[in-house]
Amino acid sequence: MGLKRITIASLATLGAVSALSAEQRPLVDDAPPHPPISGDSPSPKPLVNSEDLQATISTEALLSRAKRLFKIAQRSQEEYNHPTRVIGSEGHLATLDYIYSALAALGDYYTLSKQPFPAVTGAVYESRLLIDLALAESASPMGLTPPTKDKQPVDGNLVLVANEGCDAADYPSSLKGNIAFIQRGTCPFGTKSAHAGQAGAVAAVVFNYEDGPVAGTLGTPSPDHVATFGLSGVEAAPVVARLKAGETVPASAYIDATVDTITTTNIIAQTRGGDPEHCVMLGGHSDSVAEGPGINDDGSGSLTLLEVATQLANFSVNNCVRFAWWAGEEEGLLGSDYYVDVLPAEENLKIRLFMDYDMLASPNFAYQVYDARDAVNPVGSQALRDLYVDWYVQQGLNYTFIPFDGRSDYDGFIRHGIPGGGIATGAEGIKTKEEVALFGGEHGVPYDVCYHAICDTVSNLNLTAWELNTKLVAHSVATYARSFEGFPERTLEDASIKAAGAYAKGAKYHGSKLFI
Ligand SMILES: *[C@@H]1O[C@H](CO)[C@@H](O)[C@H](O)[C@H]1NC(C)=O
Ligand SMILES: *[C@@H]1O[C@H](CO)[C@@H](O)[C@H](O)[C@H]1NC(C)=O
Ligand SMILES: *[C@@H]1O[C@H](CO)[C@@H](O)[C@H](O)[C@H]1NC(C)=O
Ligand SMILES: [Zn+2]
Repeated sequence: MGLKRITIASLATLGAVSALSAEQRPLVDDAPPHPPISGDSPSPKPLVNSEDLQATISTEALLSRAKRLFKIAQRSQEEYNHPTRVIGSEGHLATLDYIYSALAALGDYYTLSKQPFPAVTGAVYESRLLIDLALAESASPMGLTPPTKDKQPVDGNLVLVANEGCDAADYPSSLKGNIAFIQRGTCPFGTKSAHAGQAGAVAAVVFNYEDGPVAGTLGTPSPDHVATFGLSGVEAAPVVARLKAGETVPASAYIDATVDTITTTNIIAQTRGGDPEHCVMLGGHSDSVAEGPGINDDGSGSLTLLEVATQLANFSVNNCVRFAWWAGEEEGLLGSDYYVDVLPAEENLKIRLFMDYDMLASPNFAYQVYDARDAVNPVGSQALRDLYVDWYVQQGLNYTFIPFDGRSDYDGFIRHGIPGGGIATGAEGIKTKEEVALFGGEHGVPYDVCYHAICDTVSNLNLTAWELNTKLVAHSVATYARSFEGFPERTLEDASIKAAGAYAKGAKYHGSKLFI
């Protein structure tokens, strides 16, 4: 299997590249140009196969990468007082350098590109919601919320908004100078906050229809947004009753926050070999939350990709393989959304499927497979789901299905008609007794106690789960790099957002936070 000569056409396969202006165009192709094929080229590499690629995966290699990544996260110590790889931090910049230079060291096996994009970041420094002078314990500021006026407390009466506050007419004129009290449901939090702002509210509270708290995000900033909290259903219920009885309920809201736009970068690596019209794509996210170093979330997935990309370089492929390290996942899937948004239709169609690898080594893990079904997802998603299932079964391991509901970077792909799926090992969810029977571990404890926390360090990784899942990632790459036989073809119709309508309807998440 000879190596293909690099042509302009194969650069265009880097999807987004062709959609960007010359100025925005990412750095493509740092590596020296590939020499033309000649009679005395180095000995051909064997065609990849699942068994051989899996055999290259070792715990030692993964662990040493994880230790390196933690050191990288420590570079943010000075600015954040703890290790983190949040976008904009030294730790994230160094993560990008590490990934890029490790790929560049593989010579000309991959065409590398950096795709810069604007990312909105929010930081909340302090917040407080008082209802009738009492602290609302479950109140949590929404992601990307603006501060209250002059970053000072604002006072007003709570005003119950009609219905679910999805319509401007639901907001009464009495809201002016007061605080909107809005039930969660039907439309995004951002829409509610904007309606409240337009109606003259000084702040907004979205209360849950379920007992629990609301950890949400307003999403894309709007000048109409006002400072917005989420509130648990339990804490809201007596307040709603009082408001419905016509009582006046005074409140005080305070949020000190900033919302900024910075530039961050996706990294894309595509094999020069293999049919560039038929690519298998996979991704993990290079960033962490601000609260911690993110060694499991998603150090595990992004290092798995790096290790598989490194080992794949010893093989040839029939189909092109495209790896992505997304940035801004934690701010709401920004990097992957941007990538698919600027992808021209003909480039979209070259991506036969997208595989998401986010959190592969949770300490109290379950082997989770996204329940991606053809009935509500682009056709092919289910075949990918079954590839994972078959592999776990073949290893004599148990697995469990989890909702395919928009919590990670597959979201943009599905919404743009590209089949998708993936595996994970669990985040803040609590392991059940039944799952302990399936996977071992502890019941009543989160899959990852250090999810989005400062303790998401190297010792937060379960290496057994990590090695095993990395082998499964290798299996998925090798399988589709060899052949798409039996895997559904893409069609132009698929590439339209309409194809994903059914999926979009049910989704409440966009990234780790709720948006509806
Ligand atoms: C695979 O490639 C690495 C360099 O990435 C090289 O050090 C190693 O010897 C190769 N292994 C095989 C079996 O060819
Ligand atoms: C799979 O689950 C069954 C039923 O709970 C259990 O008996 C078995 O030991 C599990 N297998 C593994 C490999 O953990
Ligand atoms: C990882 O999980 C396995 C299986 O539950 C367990 O035996 C092992 O002790 C765990 N390792 C670590 C480092 O937590
Ligand atoms: Zn993640």
